[in-house]
Amino acid sequence: IPLSKAASAAAASPFEPLHPSLSHFPPSSPSTSPSAAGAATQGSHPTYKLPSQTVEWQRLVRHAAEIKALHLRHLVQDPVRSDALCVDYDGVYMDYSRQQMTMETRTLLIELAKRTQVGEKVAAMARGEKINHTEGRAVLHMATRAGREESVIVDGVDVVRQVHRVLDKVKAFSEGVRQGTIRGATGKRIRNIVAVGIGGSYLGPACIHEVFKTEEEGSQSCRDFRLRFLSNVDPVDVARAQEKLDPEETLVVVVSKSFATAETMLNARTMRQWLWDGMGTHPDVCAKHMAACASASATQLVEAFGIPSERLFEFWDWVGGRYSVCASPGALPISLKFGFSVFEKFLAGARSMDRHFLTAPFEKNLPVLMGLLGVWNMSFLGYRCRTIIPYAEAMMKFPAHIQQVDMESNGKHVTVDGEEINYDIGEIDFGEPGTNGQHSFFQLLHMGQVVPVDFIGFAESQKALHVAGEELSSHDELMCNFFAQPDALAVGKTGAELLAEGIPPDHVPHRTFKGNRPSLSLLLPRLNAYSMGQLLALYEHRTAVQGFVWHVNSFDQWGVELGKQLAKSVREEMKLARTGQAPNLHALVPATARILQRYW
Ligand code: F6P
Repeated sequence: IPLSKAASAAAASPFEPLHPSLSHFPPSSPSTSPSAAGAATQGSHPTYKLPSQTVEWQRLVRHAAEIKALHLRHLVQDPVRSDALCVDYDGVYMDYSRQQMTMETRTLLIELAKRTQVGEKVAAMARGEKINHTEGRAVLHMATRAGREESVIVDGVDVVRQVHRVLDKVKAFSEGVRQGTIRGATGKRIRNIVAVGIGGSYLGPACIHEVFKTEEEGSQSCRDFRLRFLSNVDPVDVARAQEKLDPEETLVVVVSKSFATAETMLNARTMRQWLWDGMGTHPDVCAKHMAACASASATQLVEAFGIPSERLFEFWDWVGGRYSVCASPGALPISLKFGFSVFEKFLAGARSMDRHFLTAPFEKNLPVLMGLLGVWNMSFLGYRCRTIIPYAEAMMKFPAHIQQVDMESNGKHVTVDGEEINYDIGEIDFGEPGTNGQHSFFQLLHMGQVVPVDFIGFAESQKALHVAGEELSSHDELMCNFFAQPDALAVGKTGAELLAEGIPPDHVPHRTFKGNRPSLSLLLPRLNAYSMGQLLALYEHRTAVQGFVWHVNSFDQWGVELGKQLAKSVREEMKLARTGQAPNLHALVPATARILQRYW
């Protein structure tokens, strides 16, 4: 869908906006306006310290006890309930009728969302208020896919203009490389791109690369370019990234918001040395074979590294690393490999979901509903894990990307005000493509702990395959599993049914499926750049909604700092040991000193 069409589709939305100030994205009032500031203040300082103190939360606690007495085996048979627990927006069909809930549950969850000011908090986020208060930053990943005609003002600057300035630069540069007008230092054409980055500077871009690879592989221009990712400092990862590449034909893109992450910078130096080894140390080598995607505040670091500022593709403090795939970290590598127009389709899909998120009423709002179901399953039903199972091999990296988005965001123990939380938050997310997952951890999903599942499927495959003599295409076979698994989990199989099938009585306990295991199913027309954008934004917003209800700051990540600091101390001791000096082992925990000596 072209951007203009997506925008007009959203404008013609049949839904009432969830909050008056969300009727436009972005709203015209700048973030400094008194009304905007007031909304944010109210949003972050509600009349309770913990949402668990509210009447709405307590109602849900009581309601959960009632729901636990029901069984999905019976609930799924109710046609009215079944019809009510579905949403369809821009090709994204979500059936959540296999969640342990009734329509009353939805009503109560929406009341909790209203009480916890989810609408106001979303509005504050979209307006560019500094809701990530521990880092003093706005949270504007939605602006990275905003239309050129939109505007969001942060600290007096229109960030949407900044976004489009960088996107234009990505377009011009990637087209130059792809057409051969921009070449390497020795005059050869660039054929290989190695994107060096870790965490959010790797997972999102690598995830969408896998998806687009299949979709675009038919095109000659896609086959002409090879994109690899280097994230780990494990020498094996380095060797794999460099394998059979000619430095003269290689562009290294260093993706790091801080341009200071230890692993990324070591790998960047390693790749620079590899380029120098291949072509000598003339400054042109770095200038013509390296580029950077980094925060504007890291410009000096980028230049000191040898990458000129015209090869710096900025992103900004107001985009969290794990939310940066729509900014230059995704835009540059993906446009170099597939062409800028493919990336534009991805942005259009994400924008479509953003508009839905900002305008649809809660009971029809996909990310809001998914977020509320997450809260319900975790905080009220006590399910601490959840899993994403895409029935699409090309989405193999999606669960890992969403794992970072969600676990780095909501793995918290205090509220935005520093109050210790007394309810369960922050699920453990994992996943694998189906059907492969069925043959590994599904045993536990069916008979062990209860783990809510998100099933993701597509009506059409990226590849047609119908083997002669087979009744069904391979995609149909894949999708039979997508349709069957939710019922196996929800309905299960009773002892009486097993006995009626002639199962020996002593086997019956081992083969009984208790059922009553929640899942939701997302069905989309086809996996491509547009639908990938929709899914990405859907899951990003789900995480935000949960964080808003739980009253935490989902946008900082202090939990990764201590490990980094301690690695620094170990690194100092390691340097001493490796240069024949005596390390100061007393400074370390005894077990660490002991295992280090074994390593040395
Ligand atoms: O260590 C966690 C983290 O800060 C992530 O949040 C981030 O995505 C990743 O490291 C990489 O950071 P950078 O882009 O600054 O190299």
